[in-house]
Amino acid sequence: MKIVLFGGTFDPVHSEHVKLAKGALRELSPDKLIILPAFIPPHKAGAAAPAEDRLNMARIAFAFDERIEVSGYEMERGGNSYSYLTVGHFRSLYPDAEITFLIGGDSFFDFERWVHPEIIAAESRIAVVSRGEFTEKLMARNAEFERTHGYRAKILSFTGDATSSTFIRFALMLGLNVNLPDGISEYIAKKGLYRGGEMFDYISAHLKEKRLIHTAGVIECALSLNRQLGLDRNKVITACALHDVAKYMHPSDFPSFKKTGEMPNSVVHAFLGEHVAREVLGITDEDVLSAIRYHTTGRAAMTDLEKLVYTADLLERSRDYPGVDKLRKLTNENFEVGFCECMRQGYKHLKQMMMPGGVYHLTIEAYEYYKNKNPLKHA
Ligand SMILES: [Fe+2]
Ligand SMILES: [Fe+2]
Repeated sequence: MKIVLFGGTFDPVHSEHVKLAKGALRELSPDKLIILPAFIPPHKAGAAAPAEDRLNMARIAFAFDERIEVSGYEMERGGNSYSYLTVGHFRSLYPDAEITFLIGGDSFFDFERWVHPEIIAAESRIAVVSRGEFTEKLMARNAEFERTHGYRAKILSFTGDATSSTFIRFALMLGLNVNLPDGISEYIAKKGLYRGGEMFDYISAHLKEKRLIHTAGVIECALSLNRQLGLDRNKVITACALHDVAKYMHPSDFPSFKKTGEMPNSVVHAFLGEHVAREVLGITDEDVLSAIRYHTTGRAAMTDLEKLVYTADLLERSRDYPGVDKLRKLTNENFEVGFCECMRQGYKHLKQMMMPGGVYHLTIEAYEYYKNKNPLKHA
């Protein structure tokens, strides 16, 4: 019997998961494809849906093929969803089966840092679904995998899109319509999952769809980059969610808002956003407020949270300008290096635009401060 194991958080399950399952059925032709929603530790809950709902949603989304079984094994076991335990469990259930363990491209690169990769690689055969962006690197990694484990992992020809559950969760919290597998949107609505509360409702009511998609993208991008910084997750989410809240507001609607000197329109929304966050939404955290305030202009000697929102604003998934992929790669490898490069390129771009009044003074100060910084020297 051929069995494929495929784990994930499925928070929520989305269309890319379904496509991937179809790809795995087609290319690996198993008798059984076992989907394993992972246990999520309670302290990580945040925007996450309860375990039971993630399991139910997976059962709804994967009901299209009787070879697929959704297993509550990892959830019931609790604790860390160590894959070597999962593979071991199914190995003892099916001693004679040919077991394939399907992982994503990112996981394949990390694989040797997992707990007991040698057990996983020996008790099952590894198969990889990549996003198709790094074929040469993937082949090199597979050669290295072979040297360590004695066989090559199977690379699926199906390549997924870069949809992420993180992006989808925040898009839902911002009230966006998200294209999900049949029955999932209804389930989410019925159970009231992924509600963001008052702040998200306020943002949703004051921004246009395109800006909401951008906002969900900024949150997703910042949370991903924050793996390098380790800042307070709630602060990151709040600052990113609110950074453009005043994009379509006018200072004259807020008599207590004082513009300081001549401020270009593109800058006003950042300062007004801070004002709205403080006065209307009652945000008191100065780290969050300053990250909203300086997200467009930057300034000299920025805090880490200011840098993070500034950078995520320029690199989130819907940004599409020449060189953005290079900047993303640089920043994913080293946040400080990427941030400095964003600052330099942003300034040069503004200079070229030759706006009346020139580049805003805070941006000039930021550029002067960061232009010769080489974070690698101090690393
Ligand atoms: Fe903005
Ligand atoms: Fe923005």
